Amino acid sequence: MICFSIIFVNHHDNNKYIIETLELNGSVEEGDALFKINCVGCHGITARGLVGPDLHSITQRLNDKEIIKQVTGGLTPPMPSFEIDPVNMSNLLKYLHSLE
Ligand code: HEC
Repeated sequence: MICFSIIFVNHHDNNKYIIETLELNGSVEEGDALFKINCVGCHGITARGLVGPDLHSITQRLNDKEIIKQVTGGLTPPMPSFEIDPVNMSNLLKYLHSLE
């Protein structure tokens, strides 16, 4: 299981996934919708935190690459790893950037 996670992260680190995601200009509205479906259970409906931390100003603490790893890596249970395509990852990033 641990081995699998490491391979998964290295895979994402080296492949086009991160570059592809960062080249896209996501949509805040789409990201908001994704967040409401996948993330609010732990981070709260307004991302102010519940089980998971408050995500306001997260983009000042982590760069986009670190956030992508956080969302896709599954390195910090209980937060699961999300299988998410670059377009939707970009939308989520855009949403997180819109939180102040
Ligand atoms: C099952 C609960 C759960 C779900 C669902 C979840 N998270 Fe998390 N998340 C956490 C927990 C717990 C942490 C803190 C992990 C740690 O640092 O040990 C965290 C941490 C984070 C962090 C880093 C916060 C920081 O201050 O470093 C980001 C960014 C994040 N989550 C984004 C998301 C996004 C985006 C989604 C939806 C796609 C999501 N999370 C879904 C529980 C969850």
